[in-house]
Amino acid sequence: MGKIILTGDRPTGRLHIGHYAGSLKRRVELQNSGEFEKIYIMIADAQALTDNAEHPEKVRQNIVEVALDYMACGLEPEKSTLFIQSMVPELTELSFYYMNLVTVSRLQRNPTVKSEIQMRNFESSIPVGFFTYPISQAADITAFKATTVPVGEDQEPMIEQTREIVRKFNSVYGETLVEPEILLPDNKACLRLPGTDGKAKMSKSLGNCIYLADTEEEVKRKVMSMYTDPDHIRVEDPGKLEGNTVFTYLDAFVRTEYFAEYLPDYANLDELKGHYKRGGLGDVKVKRFLNNVMQEELAPIRKKRKELEQDIPYIYEVLRKGSQAAESVAAETLDDVKKSMKINYFDDNALITEQTEKYKNL
Ligand code: TRP
Repeated sequence: MGKIILTGDRPTGRLHIGHYAGSLKRRVELQNSGEFEKIYIMIADAQALTDNAEHPEKVRQNIVEVALDYMACGLEPEKSTLFIQSMVPELTELSFYYMNLVTVSRLQRNPTVKSEIQMRNFESSIPVGFFTYPISQAADITAFKATTVPVGEDQEPMIEQTREIVRKFNSVYGETLVEPEILLPDNKACLRLPGTDGKAKMSKSLGNCIYLADTEEEVKRKVMSMYTDPDHIRVEDPGKLEGNTVFTYLDAFVRTEYFAEYLPDYANLDELKGHYKRGGLGDVKVKRFLNNVMQEELAPIRKKRKELEQDIPYIYEVLRKGSQAAESVAAETLDDVKKSMKINYFDDNALITEQTEKYKNL
């Protein structure tokens, strides 16, 4: 059987370069590799609502933003099925059956859920829907018989939880679901790109993100004010690379060709790093170079996004078609699941015969 990808994002804001480095860039490469039989990219609006119940408008507005970001990065509707989670109601039904295979204490131990509960100060007021979203995520993945889930490192516990649900389902009801594998970025710097302020988490509320839709000026301003080594005060001072955001971003995005073009005094990143560590290399010079690198990376995305923004009805049409295609696949899986669980009563001739016989012999 061919390999199948499912992945997605919550539409709670525009996508930033953390999404790009951590997953989006890879998805486009995977899409174009021709190695996958099917690729499903989901805008997880229902999951976004699990902690935004009071802000449906925010979710509604951001669906098209995320779709624009996807397509601007190079996801193509001819190659990847782009769809909206809530438009595939089969996912909800699958979740309902999977809920019986997961304990409350297992969900409480899910590290991502744990840290998100803390981050949102939910404590004793955790919405049930939010608490159970790992189960719905298992439904998202298994509905498409996905073998491969390319996501950021923070999603690892979700994939593990999905694998457990699959194993449990298959052992209770017979081999039905496919156990997926996580696919993490292979570049370590991309695994967890820090915010521009050096904080581990990139988030809208911290104002430390570079967005894919940012203008050239915005990107430049953010790069030039990036966190570096606070002890690197004078140019002559030796600089530290650990925790130095500018170098982390260079690790994530630089290509050797960029040196010849923008910083020909150095042949590659190792030489630049060496000089910085020895001292005598100022932050501004490195930041200017990083700005060039980021602009190279982001300019084509920005241009493509501008074009796509001219035809918003087309974007919705892509999502509508994608959602229809996704629904028909999910419906097949739901049929398999119900058959395995023996809750496909009206399609089960053996059941009707069995019951008929039972009453005949009375
Ligand atoms: N939890 C993911 C995020 O926060 C979004 C998501 C929902 C997802 N369902 C998924 C990712 C299934 C991968 C597979 O971005």
